[in-house]
Amino acid sequence: MSTQHVTLNRSGDKMPLMGFGCWKVENKDAEQLIYDAIKCGYRLFDNACDYGNEVEIGRGIARAIKDGLVKREELFVVTKLWNTFHSKDHVRPAFEKQRKELGLDYIDLYLIHFPVPLKYVAFDQAYPPGWYGVGQKKIQFERAPMHECWSEMEKLVDDGLARNIGISNFNVQAILDLLTYCKHKPATLQVEIHPYLPQKRLVEWVQAQEIHITAYSSFGPGSYVSLTDDGRSAEPLLQNDAISSIAQKKNKTPAQVLLRWAIERGIAVIPKSSHEERMKSNHDVFSWSLDDDDKKQIETLNKGLRFNNPDSYGFDLPLFS
Ligand SMILES: NC(=O)c1ccc[n+]([C@@H]2O[C@H](COP(=O)([O-])OP(=O)(O)OC[C@H]3O[C@@H](n4cnc5c(N)ncnc54)[C@H](OP(=O)(O)O)[C@@H]3O)[C@@H](O)[C@H]2O)c1
Repeated sequence: MSTQHVTLNRSGDKMPLMGFGCWKVENKDAEQLIYDAIKCGYRLFDNACDYGNEVEIGRGIARAIKDGLVKREELFVVTKLWNTFHSKDHVRPAFEKQRKELGLDYIDLYLIHFPVPLKYVAFDQAYPPGWYGVGQKKIQFERAPMHECWSEMEKLVDDGLARNIGISNFNVQAILDLLTYCKHKPATLQVEIHPYLPQKRLVEWVQAQEIHITAYSSFGPGSYVSLTDDGRSAEPLLQNDAISSIAQKKNKTPAQVLLRWAIERGIAVIPKSSHEERMKSNHDVFSWSLDDDDKKQIETLNKGLRFNNPDSYGFDLPLFS
């Protein structure tokens, strides 16, 4: 049985390598789905203000704790600061709103969702605010320097409200800059990783800085079919011939092969599924391994193909260029 946790820098907290992603979990299903995921063995939940379902996710967590399925300290709850709350006066209120909606005393890991400061939107104008301001048709930036935002994130750690802080969708340039002034180094970086976008050098470099990596969208285009042209036109990874033949050989599902491939690189994964059987099988990736030949074959699928790109959504923001 291979290791199921990584140890985070500074806090020494153990973060599960397997978690449950909460994007696109519908509000009406969220409470029961989280409860079921805890029953299946999931201990890490990946949330965000932007997903608009933290109240219901919190209810699922609370019910599981009340029913004795799990203790709070056995869970690892992740959530993310949205782009409109980067100014130093807005980080704490945004965090507090999310913490209360989740119904928790503390958050295990609080991430900056994107290195993109957008114009502030008050809670009573729109929540979650999304990418555009109310009534706007273009994104509008806010002059909120990252060093001020990060300093507020650090205060959440110092005040015992966030046990760890980290980043998402940052590239090496943005991380290098952050490392020049941070008091608390980011514990993790969450980025898109799948065989079409393995991000080999980014992963190696970031891991060498003692920052753990979490992969999102491990199954590739699936979540982007309704959102972008690239999502629609790419071959579904879950039906790819190479992935399917490895799965058949190992008597596993293609989803398990994709998740195991990341875990063998020391990368945490956060698959989302609304189906209990898939939830269970996705979680079962620690008792077997891929062969070297399988990994070599998966490497050949690299296309440098990124699906979660603000530019592809029409936001006029080539963030990863
Ligand atoms: N930081 C960021 O900017 C960012 C961006 C995107 C995502 N994320 C996080 O990463 C999580 C995962 O990424 P993701 O939502 O893009 O999707 P994902 O986990 O790669 O894929 C989810 C899709 O795959 C399907 N699926 C799940 N297990 C399956 C299986 N065993 N067989 C076949 N289909 C399966 C799901 O359908 P069913 O639900 O119908 O099973 C769903 O359509 C998100 O929930 C979110 O927490 C973060």
